[in-house]
Amino acid sequence: MPATVSIHGQWSTRLAFILAATGSAVGLGNIWRFPYIVGDNGGGAFVLVYLACILLIGLPIMMAEILLGRRGRQSPINTMLTVAREEGLSRGWGLMGWIGVLAGFLILSFYSVIAGWALAYVFKSGSGGFVGLDAEGSSELFGAMLASPEALLAWHTIFMVMTAMVVARGVRSGLERAVTILMPLLVLLLVVLVGYSMAQGEFMAGVQFLFQPDFSALSANAVLLAMGQAFFTLSLGMGAIMVYGSYLSSEASVAKTSGAVVAADTLVALLAGLAIFPILFAAGLSPGQGPGLIFVTLPLAFAEMPMGLYFGTVFFVLLVFAAWTSAISLIEPAVAFLVENLSLTRVFATTLVAMFAWLLGIGALLSLNVWSGYTLFEMGILDLLDYLTANILLPLGGFLIALFVGWRMTERSVQSELRLKLGFVYSLWYFLVRYVAPIAILVVFLRAVGVV
Ligand code: TRP
Repeated sequence: MPATVSIHGQWSTRLAFILAATGSAVGLGNIWRFPYIVGDNGGGAFVLVYLACILLIGLPIMMAEILLGRRGRQSPINTMLTVAREEGLSRGWGLMGWIGVLAGFLILSFYSVIAGWALAYVFKSGSGGFVGLDAEGSSELFGAMLASPEALLAWHTIFMVMTAMVVARGVRSGLERAVTILMPLLVLLLVVLVGYSMAQGEFMAGVQFLFQPDFSALSANAVLLAMGQAFFTLSLGMGAIMVYGSYLSSEASVAKTSGAVVAADTLVALLAGLAIFPILFAAGLSPGQGPGLIFVTLPLAFAEMPMGLYFGTVFFVLLVFAAWTSAISLIEPAVAFLVENLSLTRVFATTLVAMFAWLLGIGALLSLNVWSGYTLFEMGILDLLDYLTANILLPLGGFLIALFVGWRMTERSVQSELRLKLGFVYSLWYFLVRYVAPIAILVVFLRAVGVV
């Protein structure tokens, strides 16, 4: 029997878990990544596919991840090994945990670089850098930052140290409280921005762009990107939610908990989209700006709105916090594993992982300037890391989780861990995990490489 409590500690309440998981889910993925990929991929149809992926693949896999974590009560690698042993299955399932550790490490390396941009923008806003800014000036401001490896390195380093500091102290201390206060504040500020967009932006143009689907513009690769975004934004497929699930008390309802996290995450992404596109259209910018989208667009709103200096500064501070609570969940699986298996101290394990991710992050930030000539599949290191993790490793991890929970674990173990009344919700979930999620992932993969 695995322990009923993890050696790394436990959340004080179910709400604490919801907050932590929401903290992991809501981050740069919602506010930076979602708008820019939607912009790059033509809007409405992409958003619809994304929402379908959230509901049909993301939500059921999140429940599967939490239930695995709670059953194994360890880092993802050991959780998979333990549950596989209990069920009389191959040790090969531990591979899923390894994919997760690798994916988390790779994501953290570039995530920290982008979070560094947000940090830089806190100070650009605070020092009045957005005052009187027009669309051209805003693009120049962003471009100048990317062109400076020293500046990018400094912010990347600061963010990585911030992340390591929290993880080294253990996931619970400080984290719960930070999320309780800051997340609602972030949502509030996004609502203020949406209000500004309604008053000053091309609001209807933004709404149409986001919600009027044009399926003729949707390529097979765009569908893969939409699915990848669903995994990325919900922190799924690499064990982050699994490891948080391992700190969840045995009584909590997995279904309700997952539903709350998914709802909060989707709300934030849609609010970010509603805030950004109307401002963008009003400024005559193109939605296909790429990764700089929010950094070019939002300063325009802060330049104009009353008290924009304060709103802008607070907004980027909150964005940094959102990124922070996400980043810690990216290294937690690796750290938990090193503590369990190599008996490293938490502090040492964290330092080790953060240091290697920091080094790889330097490669990512150099690909924006000095190394911009070096590409593979037309992508620099940063884009490559992003593509490989979000669109390949995370869905692959999710696929394995769905197969494991849907097909390899006995239904009795699944039911006893889920503690769902055996009604419609359970049957629907089990059907999604067994059939819909794995088949959908497989088909999207095969279509993207042109097989079907
Ligand atoms: N979901 C986070 C975001 O949207 C990023 C993130 C945190 C993540 N942990 C993860 C992504 C684990 C994938 C896997 O910003």
